[in-house]
Amino acid sequence: MNRSTDQAPQVYPLGNGSHYTIRPIQADDRDRILKLFDQLSPESRYLRFAHAISKLPDEFLEDILHLDYKTELALLAVTQNASGTEEVIGIARYVTPPNLQECEFSISVSDQYASHGIGTHLMIDLIAHAKRNGLKTMMGYVLSANSKMLKLVSELGFQISNLTDEADFRIVSLAL
Ligand SMILES: CC(C)(COP(=O)(O)OP(=O)(O)OC[C@H]1O[C@@H](n2cnc3c(N)ncnc32)[C@H](O)[C@@H]1OP(=O)(O)O)[C@@H](O)C(=O)NCCC(=O)NCCS
Repeated sequence: MNRSTDQAPQVYPLGNGSHYTIRPIQADDRDRILKLFDQLSPESRYLRFAHAISKLPDEFLEDILHLDYKTELALLAVTQNASGTEEVIGIARYVTPPNLQECEFSISVSDQYASHGIGTHLMIDLIAHAKRNGLKTMMGYVLSANSKMLKLVSELGFQISNLTDEADFRIVSLAL
């Protein structure tokens, strides 16, 4: 199982003198993921999970910490906090149903670090990993009210379509 990226991770500025990098998730990231979730605003939780949740479901945590890094992958944006501890400030993930070459993405960025380009960089890296892993399409369901995410993906070349039976959602899709 290859969990490493080909090159040294790129370092991005956060605007306050600190920096973040993007790396694949590791099995010991559990507490860092829980901490990110605890810090998400109710609105961000709703936009990510499409319903209000107060606790990260156990099965979500189990799934996300045990991936094959090919058909399923999660990338973390990480920074060092003031005490030098690594902190997760964003997460992007794709999953691929069995026997398909179309993966579905999801993404969350800490509200505290919104609009620093983290979501865009996570998506760019996620797309690159999916391509390298032989997947042919990346798609996602985005709430119609989530104009920020719709703008972000359209700038990355995703096509945005309506769902015939679900006015609350748009389906977004990118050929890899
Ligand atoms: C949607 C979401 C992932 C965007 O993450 P983000 O890190 O804020 O996104 P980015 O910073 O890359 O881009 C957003 C904006 O920042 C701007 N931006 C990009 N790079 C920037 C930089 N270096 N400095 C300042 N602003 C920047 C972009 O132009 C964009 O502009 P806008 O605010 O006018 O839309 C985040 O808001 C989130 O987690 N939302 C809740 C969950 C969710 O909606 N998930 C999607 C459904 S699965």
